Amino acid sequence: MQLLKVEPNGTAKAFLLSSAIWFVVGTTLGGIDATHLAAPELIDNIPFLVFGRLRPMHTNTVIFGFVGTSLMGAGFYLIPVMTRTVLYSERLGKLALWVWNLSILSGNVLLGLGYSQSREYAEWIWPVDIGILTAFALIFVNYLMTTLRRQEKILYVSVWYLFAALVFTWCFYFFGNAVWNPRTGSLAGLADANLAWFYGHGIIGLFMTPLAVAVAYYIVPIVSRAPLYSHSLSLIGFWTILVLYSHIGAHHIIQTPIPTWLKVVAITGSLSMLLPVATVLVNLWLTMRGRLGVLHANIAGKFVFAGLVWYALVCIAGPLQALPSVQRVTHLNNWVIAHSHLGVLGFAGFIGLAGIWLIIPRIIGRPLYEKRLADIQYWLLIFGLTAFHLVLSTAGLIQGNSWLNGEAIYRTLPMMHIYMVLRLFSGLFIIGAAYIGLYNLLRTLYWPGKIKEGLP
Ligand code: HEM
Ligand code: HEM
Repeated sequence: MQLLKVEPNGTAKAFLLSSAIWFVVGTTLGGIDATHLAAPELIDNIPFLVFGRLRPMHTNTVIFGFVGTSLMGAGFYLIPVMTRTVLYSERLGKLALWVWNLSILSGNVLLGLGYSQSREYAEWIWPVDIGILTAFALIFVNYLMTTLRRQEKILYVSVWYLFAALVFTWCFYFFGNAVWNPRTGSLAGLADANLAWFYGHGIIGLFMTPLAVAVAYYIVPIVSRAPLYSHSLSLIGFWTILVLYSHIGAHHIIQTPIPTWLKVVAITGSLSMLLPVATVLVNLWLTMRGRLGVLHANIAGKFVFAGLVWYALVCIAGPLQALPSVQRVTHLNNWVIAHSHLGVLGFAGFIGLAGIWLIIPRIIGRPLYEKRLADIQYWLLIFGLTAFHLVLSTAGLIQGNSWLNGEAIYRTLPMMHIYMVLRLFSGLFIIGAAYIGLYNLLRTLYWPGKIKEGLP
């Protein structure tokens, strides 16, 4: 069985397959969540299906299971290729995979049974945290030992990003989950709100973002068959994102009585984020300029391109959302849910999918079972996510403006119903895309039959 076999590139393959499975599980959970919000009485009173339990199961599955697994799995392929060395240990890789997958699974089962730390994206209780931290450490050791034994002296920027993501994530996962305090997994009061968002923001900016940028920096030059426009620019982007992203988590709690200086740091840092984001986008744009046709002829190229467009959009909205005047309308409503799906699925998830579709055929030396299915997945996701985003942004603006005008929250709820139904409907396209992707991947790996298309 794939998940147990020790073979060249087996770890990367098993991580990418696991990600496709988590994609199906995570989006299905999201679909049940959305059903709850569209028809609250339909599946009430089944304890493990209540919204409060299912929501963190959805978010943790898609963030760690789908996005994290695909991007770190891509790392298991990229690090050996970029260092021109075989992976230090496939066995260690498989061990990491098992610890990682079992932690995600047990975290979710425990959430379903009602065991939660009740802090966003840090809901898993401490035994699961230990598993996740162990998996990060095992992956780090494997990447590091491979890199130390490298044939290639120059380290391409993707390698820097992969290491930064693991080191930073390990540290803020440890502190953010208050692992030394297993009883609650938290501090108390406002200090905990700060810690929780230092952590929550780290998951976005120092776990998913650098991993996705690492994979994009690899795929764009390879697929568009053009050298990277500027290595210096890539390093400017690398250092500025580390300096800026690490301390702006307080922009999630600007409406709370945290110290003013912290709000100022968070807001100015958020606006400055345009710098590292622009360096990545300009650098990759100038690399692929004039080669968009070549890029789009490849399914991974298409996914990565769309991922970068969503990245641009989400990072234009992000700094604006950090402004108190804008937050008065957008905070705590569906506007933020729209932003999160655009970032996590549109940017990081699309680039994770690009990694899957680029790397799998290269590892197994065979084309995809059916490139058309991957194309269908792409279009379902483009349509589903665009609709999802427009529906929720509109809903958020209606909520925000009603509240600003003094309307009671309960009176705005009936207005939301149609948007919740439309969100469920647009989410079905995303769920369908996840199932089609898993089918295509399983057929590619295990039952290719007669190959229908050439190498993507
Ligand atoms: C320049 C970049 C970005 C900035 C300045 C930014 C800013 C913000 C702000 C201010 C919020 C809080 C909104 C509120 O609660 O009122 C937020 C929420 C969020 N952002 Fe971003 N964002 C950026 C990019 C991204 C990216 C790239 C992703 C995904 C990879 C992302 C994912 C999220 C998520 C998941 C939330 C929701 C957090 C929650 O559960 O409340 N953001 N962002
Ligand atoms: C891989 C795809 C997906 C990703 C990466 C993703 C990610 C997320 C994230 C990060 C949040 C937390 C948002 C926040 O607090 O700001 C969230 C919440 C949610 N997602 Fe998803 N999601 C995905 C697919 C879906 C799908 C397909 C549906 C529906 C059919 C869905 C429905 C929901 C619902 C209902 C919530 C809770 C919203 C609320 O609390 O009001 N998600 N998702």
